Amino acid sequence: VDATSGKITEPGRGPASAGPPPVVESIDYNPPRGTRDFPPDEMRLRSWLFQQFREVSRLFAFEEVDFPVLESEALFVRKAGEEITQQLYNFEDKGGRRVSLRPELTPSLARLVLQKGKALPLPVKWFAIGQCWRYERMTRGRRREHYQWNMDILGIPGVEAEVELLSAIVTFFKKVGISSNDVGIKISSRKVLQSLLERFEVPPGSFAAVCVVVDKVEKITRKEVEEELLKLGVLKDAADGILNALSVRSLTELEGLLGTESEAVRDLKQLFSLANGYGFADWLVFDASVVRGLAYYTGTVFEGFDKEGKLRAICGGGRYDRLLSTFGGEDTPACGFGFGDAVIVELLKDRGLLPSLQQEIDFIVFPLEEVLRPQAGLVTTKLREAGCVVELILESKKMKWAFKHAERLQAKQLVLLGSSEWERGCVRVKNLSSREEEDISIDELITKANTSKE
Ligand code: HAM
Repeated sequence: VDATSGKITEPGRGPASAGPPPVVESIDYNPPRGTRDFPPDEMRLRSWLFQQFREVSRLFAFEEVDFPVLESEALFVRKAGEEITQQLYNFEDKGGRRVSLRPELTPSLARLVLQKGKALPLPVKWFAIGQCWRYERMTRGRRREHYQWNMDILGIPGVEAEVELLSAIVTFFKKVGISSNDVGIKISSRKVLQSLLERFEVPPGSFAAVCVVVDKVEKITRKEVEEELLKLGVLKDAADGILNALSVRSLTELEGLLGTESEAVRDLKQLFSLANGYGFADWLVFDASVVRGLAYYTGTVFEGFDKEGKLRAICGGGRYDRLLSTFGGEDTPACGFGFGDAVIVELLKDRGLLPSLQQEIDFIVFPLEEVLRPQAGLVTTKLREAGCVVELILESKKMKWAFKHAERLQAKQLVLLGSSEWERGCVRVKNLSSREEEDISIDELITKANTSKE
């Protein structure tokens, strides 16, 4: 009700509305720092990327799962000094519970597997695509929210599982036009570090924390790494020995260092031999310096990298056979990977491999007179029932505008409804690429539309 006139005014926008609501405070039109909007063009790209993720997962017979973006904070609190636990978007909810936006999907997956318990037949092959939140320092391809494609296998203790996952990653790269000249996958095993720790008599309890420190070798100075190792009870000589061993770049060299009986050597050899069988061994490189920054990995670890060395890790994963027991469950062999949506898009952009994605419109339906709007509605409905994408012009517009609009949208055909044609049971159809025009009956139009969609 209008306060001065007392008249009832129509709700909504438009001239008859009660006027704009009072401005409370002006807001920033940008999304929060480190987060993104997805306007249509970005959204088309995101949907395309997710479709590639989904198709590859389907080819490998994985089933899709999802979890809540908000989880109990306890799921992500680990005491190994990982960066990820210091980057949580955590808070107390209105019920006084400590919760956090998920920084990754793996703990949620472990929770769900534990919840299902014995009812869940192993092996489990699951994939998920979900948004993750980390309060990061921002760099190219690193932001505060990102989407991650994950594939995980639970219940398979051998490297057969790792090879299947690596094959899926390679299949994805090939599918989007990336070759082994552009991208490689560095592989190692945490068992390498484990053997070195045993050799230098470092207490096994510090294993996860040592891995997290060693992972920083390229981010902080060697001296700083040594100091952090010292704090974990690793003596200077041991630290030197460990850090030197990380420069090993061939399996033969590793065998020389750890001996032929070493589990790490055996696993890695088998992994390379299987990858050879699958036909993607040229994508893999053994690199002892790959440790990864997450505490829960126990065996194989790997990271996808661009060979020009310009970008951060494209994807990463590994074996985490003991994560479930840290949540009070039974140990279950597990491995998987996370593949972000940001770095891959940068890479595709750099290589000129981004697809050009357009909204695909089959028909634009345009009533030339307002009285024909119900008829336009009928034609539109029938075309949509035939599976066609139809943009119905919702306002009274000039013919010239309709043509321009059709061109801008790159629609295939324009359907014009005029009284004289309609009286004859016809509409005028203009093919926008050949520019040909014809009057055809509604039935014929629908039959043609149906055949084109078969
Ligand atoms: P992660 O290495 O922390 O592993 O992340 C996996 C991938 O997610 C990275 O390689 C990168 O593509 C992407 N990513 C991570 N943080 C960001 C960020 N701030 N901005 C953009 N992209 C990012 C994990 O999260 C493990 N949970 C993966 C896993 C699954 N391991 C076993 N199963």
